[in-house]
Amino acid sequence: MLKSLRDRNKYVVGNWKSNKTAADITLFFNSFQKLGSKLEVLNTSVVPVVCPSFVHLDLSSQLVEKLKLQLYLGAQDISPFDRGAYTGEPNGEQLKEYVSFVIIGHSERRKYFAETDTLLKLKVEQAKKWGINTIYCVPDDVTDIPGDVNIVAYEPVFAIGTGKPDSPENANKVIKSIKKKTSVPVIYGGSVTAENIRDFVMMDAIDGVLPGKASLDADHFYQMIINAAV
Ligand code: PGA
Repeated sequence: MLKSLRDRNKYVVGNWKSNKTAADITLFFNSFQKLGSKLEVLNTSVVPVVCPSFVHLDLSSQLVEKLKLQLYLGAQDISPFDRGAYTGEPNGEQLKEYVSFVIIGHSERRKYFAETDTLLKLKVEQAKKWGINTIYCVPDDVTDIPGDVNIVAYEPVFAIGTGKPDSPENANKVIKSIKKKTSVPVIYGGSVTAENIRDFVMMDAIDGVLPGKASLDADHFYQMIINAAV
């Protein structure tokens, strides 16, 4: 997957978190199609990704295919184990049927579900095993990053869901520091909107963004893609 993405350089990864019903999902993709017909977003430098809940991945992939949407799908998490007796855990073998990307180590997973660096390393191994591109979240430039991740997301906790993003200059500085440890693209997440997205993606070290709330609305998400592309 990454081979065909190599010539593009700005990721816009919508993390829908624990939001949306099946009806909301259908509305989003239908609205996105109407907007998308105005512009071939895949002809730009932007890689648009949305990450629905597990329960909506099947519906989402059907709609993306049926409506011929210029979007990739991602999961918000992955089991640290292969298939087997692990109640409640969608595994990599299952997820790869629907997604190209998976978010691993989001601060909400670390905080509310007590996920540790050791557990996250197992999740990265599973994603790699099943050929799913990993988007590995860290809150700063000192947190451990496993080898083999495909994208790193710098997500300062103070900026997530607060409407108070990091400054583009500071995000760029932290991302430069992260890039001393890894050669993969590094994106920024935390209160990104269609209004401020350009300020982030214009920075020389920032390879894209990971918006949460602002990605829920099709018009707004579409506008983010447009604004990231110009
Ligand atoms: P937010 O979420 O855009 O709603 O702040 C970002 C994130 O958690 O990745």
